[in-house]
Amino acid sequence: MTKIAPSILASDFANLESEIKEVEQAGADYIHVDVMDGKFVPNISIGIPVVKAIRPVTDLPLDVHLMISDPENYVEAFAEAGASIITVHQEATSHLHRTIQLIKNSGTKAGVVINPATPVEMLKPILHEVELVLVMSVNPGFGGQKFIPEVMEKVEKLYTWRKEMNNYSYEIEVDGGVNKETSGLCKQAGADVLVAGSAIFNDRDREKAVSEIRDS
Ligand code: DX5
Ligand code: ZN
Repeated sequence: MTKIAPSILASDFANLESEIKEVEQAGADYIHVDVMDGKFVPNISIGIPVVKAIRPVTDLPLDVHLMISDPENYVEAFAEAGASIITVHQEATSHLHRTIQLIKNSGTKAGVVINPATPVEMLKPILHEVELVLVMSVNPGFGGQKFIPEVMEKVEKLYTWRKEMNNYSYEIEVDGGVNKETSGLCKQAGADVLVAGSAIFNDRDREKAVSEIRDS
C-alpha cells in the first residue's frame, strides 16, 4: 500500500499538535517536516526546536526534508531532536557520501533528494547507501505549487534500478503538487511514499483527503 506523508508546512502552526494528531488518526504513515534556510531555497520555515517539540506528540516516523545549504552541519542536531529519517539535497552538500555516512552514524535513516532539474543518474554512486530517495516534483521552497509530470521518468528509473540491483533497498518518495489528480501518476511510475501538504491540510476532512490520495 502506498504510504502517505502529510507535510506540516501546510498545517496550522498555531495548532501543530492537533494537526499532527488528526493526520495520524486519518491514516498517515510519516510526518513530513520541511526545513528551509532562506539560502538553499528562497523561503524560511521551521527547524530543530519544532522537530523536538513534535517528537512526543506522535508515534509516526518524522521524515525530515532538509532544504538547507551544508546540511552536514545540522544532521546530528536533527537526529538528537528526534528525526527518524533525514533527507539531504544532492545539490546542497559538497560531499554527499560523507553526509550520508554522518546521517547513518547519527542513528537515523538516510535519504537523498534531487530537484526537478537534477538528473537521477547523479545518485548512482550513493543509491546502495540510502533508505529513501526523494524526487522533487516542484522546485523546493513553497507549498501549493504545480506538479511537474516530467520528473516521473526519474521515479521509473529508480524503480527499475531497484529491481535490477539486490543491494538497493530505498523507498521512492515524491514531493510537491501531489493531490488526488496527480497521485495516480506517481504510483504508476513506482513511488512508495507520497508527500502532500496543501491537498491534506486544506481539506477539513483529513481522512478523506489521505485516502483519496492513497487510493486514486
Ligand atoms: C516544497 C516542500 C514540500 C511541500 C509540499 O518545498 O518540500 O514538501 O510542502 O506541499 P504541496 O503538497 O502543497 O505541494
Ligand atoms: Zn518536502
